[in-house]
Amino acid sequence: MISRGLALISVMIAALSLFACAPSGGGDSGQARQSEAPTEEATLAPTEAPVPELEGTVDGADASDAHLVEVGEILYQQYCASCHGAELEGQPNWKQRDENGFLPAPPHDETGHTWHHPDEQLFEITKIGTEAFVGMGYRSNMIGFEDQLSDSEIWAVLAFIKSEWSPRIQRAQPK
Ligand code: HEC
Repeated sequence: MISRGLALISVMIAALSLFACAPSGGGDSGQARQSEAPTEEATLAPTEAPVPELEGTVDGADASDAHLVEVGEILYQQYCASCHGAELEGQPNWKQRDENGFLPAPPHDETGHTWHHPDEQLFEITKIGTEAFVGMGYRSNMIGFEDQLSDSEIWAVLAFIKSEWSPRIQRAQPK
């Protein structure tokens, strides 16, 4: 089937571009060593604000849709902020793999490379997780949220993330 073939090719391109973005490790050995304590823990304190209803089915991350962005922000704080940061700032030294070879959570603001990916890729990564997205045995701490968030809710989170980007970066994001 042509469309499956195309989908596969685009996933492979996406995987390649993920690798291209990812730093190859090493190199930064002069950098101050982080403390031994893992940085992820003790940050899981989701705000339990009630999530407003999304009307109907959402099929896209429209950053100019105020209601979608509002819902997305609440979901972001509950499901993503513990790793990606309340201000979308990501984890410290996010370009450096840890001792087990895992990358920390990158920022979703303009300093990261989230905006280098088209919406469809961001959606897939969020839905199925980076391991399934990249395939080929790649290991990652970015889990998939398909059991926790509906497709519409994933689009809402992405709409919020994009709404934090400047118009210039929003335009620069590949479509
Ligand atoms: C348990 C920590 C954790 C949580 C919670 C988390 N992420 Fe991630 N995320 C990561 C890590 C780690 C990576 C980097 C994965 C890699 O490249 O191996 C990542 C990568 C990503 C990427 C790819 C970014 C890029 O530039 O390639 C997207 C998109 C993403 N996360 C979206 C989300 C969204 C949306 C949520 C909330 C619904 C979320 N993440 C929640 C840890 C997390």
